[in-house]
Amino acid sequence: MKRQALLSGLIMIVALGGGAASAEPGPFTEQQAADGKTKFNNHCATCHRPNLEGGQGTALIGDAFKQKWAGKPVAELRDYIHATMPPTAPRSLADDQLDPITAYILSKNGVAPGDAPLSKDNASAAFPN
Ligand code: HEC
Repeated sequence: MKRQALLSGLIMIVALGGGAASAEPGPFTEQQAADGKTKFNNHCATCHRPNLEGGQGTALIGDAFKQKWAGKPVAELRDYIHATMPPTAPRSLADDQLDPITAYILSKNGVAPGDAPLSKDNASAAFPN
């Protein structure tokens, strides 16, 4: 009995230490992220690579990327993408491209999907650390 309590205590510490923030659901749905994968591959992957590790464009996953965007409202990333990407046609992405693509980038950075879809009115939550 005692041993079991100790063990479950240890498991909890490991679970909490292992990225509790990332387990917080993000402001997007699983369906959006899946849809975003196709759209990302169509519009972004030539420069950022299908694995988001970067090529002609910078990496959209990993420590440097997260350092830049984590803790800021997702709206900032969404607005940045809208205003600048793709560089050949800034402001060309419609909301039904921008939202899934942003959701996909969040999911690839380990953010878990939630119940509410990402939209221009639901992007104020911070990009989890
Ligand atoms: C023609 C190549 C190209 C395409 C296509 C492209 N990008 Fe980029 N992207 C770049 C380059 C180059 C940079 C670095 C720009 C800079 O730092 O000023 C960049 C930067 C970014 C950043 C900022 C990265 C950071 O570290 O903060 C994001 C986010 C981004 N792109 C998302 C996208 C998305 C989403 C798409 C598809 C809609 C896309 N890009 C399409 C070339 C591209």
